[in-house]
Amino acid sequence: MRAIQVARLDGPQAAELVEIDEPTGEVVIDVHAAGVAFPDALQTRGLYQMKPPLPYVPGAELAGVVRSAPPGAHVSTGDRVAALTMLSGAMAEVVAVPAEQVFALPPSVSFEAGAGLLFNDLTVHCALRTRGRLAPGETVLVHGAAGGIGTSTLRLAAAWGASRAIAVVSTEDKAAVARAAGATDVVLADGFKDAVKELTGGRGVDVVVDPVGGDRFTDSLRSLAPGGRLLVVGFTGGEIPTVKVNRLLLNNVDVVGVGWGAWTATHPGYLQEQWAELEPLLASGLVTPPEPIVYPLERAGEAIASLEDRSAKGKVVVTVR
Ligand SMILES: NC(=O)c1ccc[n+]([C@@H]2O[C@H](COP(=O)([O-])OP(=O)(O)OC[C@H]3O[C@@H](n4cnc5c(N)ncnc54)[C@H](OP(=O)(O)O)[C@@H]3O)[C@@H](O)[C@H]2O)c1
Repeated sequence: MRAIQVARLDGPQAAELVEIDEPTGEVVIDVHAAGVAFPDALQTRGLYQMKPPLPYVPGAELAGVVRSAPPGAHVSTGDRVAALTMLSGAMAEVVAVPAEQVFALPPSVSFEAGAGLLFNDLTVHCALRTRGRLAPGETVLVHGAAGGIGTSTLRLAAAWGASRAIAVVSTEDKAAVARAAGATDVVLADGFKDAVKELTGGRGVDVVVDPVGGDRFTDSLRSLAPGGRLLVVGFTGGEIPTVKVNRLLLNNVDVVGVGWGAWTATHPGYLQEQWAELEPLLASGLVTPPEPIVYPLERAGEAIASLEDRSAKGKVVVTVR
């Protein structure tokens, strides 16, 4: 089969189209499209916590058609599905994954959109619903709002009760992407604290979703309303921030870790429970699927590089067939 392979850890340009053997496993899927997420970029430099042995096929998520499944599984031959690889192997014509990592796609969701929704939407579900305890009427602020996690947060926040979703972005171009994804307000990263203060009449927001980290972390804490939660999702800004815990005490705020992969590993059945909450929103049209930027498989290296060099706008996927 055709697949993208990384054989050396010198960045996204190492991603090459090769011919390798098809995998075997529980549910075998003919892949139509695969999602690109920030860990794909980190993994090409050996910088992600999970390091697949070289050479490896990148890609954490995909959509396609089931070729074979065990008797009694919740999917069967011919079903349109999305799937998670947890955390490599998706950028290939065929994948094989455990049944619990496979999800039947509603007919209204295309393969491209389906390939680009699981990784971020399930992380955002874990962030807003499980770890962040988002309550109806609360306000959400999201950093890196035109990125994968960012656009996913903007698509989902209202469906899970948020009355307002404030997007933080670095450029005006990205502001347009955030608005299209559902932001009620957009502010630039530079000076976001004062802008949020003004927008909220000095109160601040209830929940901050932070996939960026770095030097904006303290201003995120200062942007929380009493009882607010800062959800630590990632560190695309590069630096892992530190917290002066007196700030938590002074304003009665929480810093909450969101490690979706680790949560799924310690909570059997969680992935399918998450999908049971997400799928009806997509099927009914209450939440729109992502509208990804699409690259052909042979340009997967460029697609991965667009996340690393911060030029990606919205979710990125590669088409496989
Ligand atoms: N905790 C979990 O369970 C979990 C699950 C999935 C993903 N993640 C993490 O979430 C983070 C975001 O992933 P993603 O797929 O949403 O990435 P993405 O699509 O590339 O978006 C990340 C955003 O970060 C911002 N950013 C700020 N400084 C940056 C820099 N130096 N380089 C690149 N981007 C920068 C960019 O927005 P601006 O230019 O507007 O600032 C960019 O749009 C990653 O760290 C990923 O590992 C965590």
